[in-house]
Amino acid sequence: MREAKVRTITALGLGLGLWLGSSGIGTAGATLNVLCGVDESWCGVMAAAFRANSGTDVVMTRKSSGEILDQVRAERQHPTVDVWWGGTGDAHLQAGSEGLLQPYRSNNERDLLPWAQNFLALSGGRSAGIYAGALGFAYNAELLARYEVPAPTCWKDLTSSAYRGRIQTGNPNSSGTAFTMLAALVQLFGEDEAFRFMGDLDRNVTEYTKSGSAPVKAAARGETLIGISFMHDAVTQKQAGSPLVIVAPCEGTGYEIGAVSILKGARNLETARRFVDFALSPEGQATGVVAGQYQVPSNAKAALPAAAPDISMIKMVDYDFATFGSPEERSRLLRRFDTEILATN
Ligand code: F6P
Repeated sequence: MREAKVRTITALGLGLGLWLGSSGIGTAGATLNVLCGVDESWCGVMAAAFRANSGTDVVMTRKSSGEILDQVRAERQHPTVDVWWGGTGDAHLQAGSEGLLQPYRSNNERDLLPWAQNFLALSGGRSAGIYAGALGFAYNAELLARYEVPAPTCWKDLTSSAYRGRIQTGNPNSSGTAFTMLAALVQLFGEDEAFRFMGDLDRNVTEYTKSGSAPVKAAARGETLIGISFMHDAVTQKQAGSPLVIVAPCEGTGYEIGAVSILKGARNLETARRFVDFALSPEGQATGVVAGQYQVPSNAKAALPAAAPDISMIKMVDYDFATFGSPEERSRLLRRFDTEILATN
């Protein structure tokens, strides 16, 4: 099914490479409305943990990064949401530069790793990094053996006819994962070459999914051979017993800094601040592994999940968050993707 096709860090730039390196107690009050950009399972665990920590009820709604950005833009005059927690940082940066976010400096900032400090500074104090994760792909080893095709190790391998109709990836209009891929390829290969690659890849893609983790979930279920997603999402599937092999592409790859932001006009501002404090605390960040999520936490005092991909060992582009987090660049690249890749289906 091609639903979405029809329309439906030198780590590096921010010092991620350098990482080789208190929760807030709120008061019971009105329900906090949170748009949740991480996996559904983590949204639930985090809501329960914050409720226990603060006594405040939380309503979490899971959406992909681009969908959240669209909602936040549409509700500019009458925000219904207090906090945007999770999802790729580039989308948060765009919301910030469009004046949609409320700056907040949490006391827990002092414990953030250098890459998260840099992200915070880049956002002008409007968004804080909560985790990092590298992009990659994963293939289903049982299907690979059944199809008798070679194991892919590089981005460029994915254009081989051996994988015709056997790849899923996200739609960068909705998925922050897929936008990270587009931006990373532009930075790795140069823009024209990246679009040539996307065009060649398109011949093998069966579906551009709305959410960025859907491709590796489909590969885990044996519904597709290869899924392109963040590597930590593939780890979650592997930990659950699926026969996935996770690949860090040989040419190098991009990465995300997942973020938390308070929306301008938040109706529960004090509680929203307490939520951000909690999201940046070691306790708040420990909720990820409880939910089976394996991103790298941004707080230096938070435990690194044992199964998290070792980001320091992955070849990364010098990811330019300032450029690829700007509304103009995102719109321009998405227009080009829609015209040159999606529209040809
Ligand atoms: O599933 C978790 C996750 O990969 C996060 O690390 C990331 O920020 C988010 O999903 C991106 O989701 P989407 O691609 O659907 O916007």
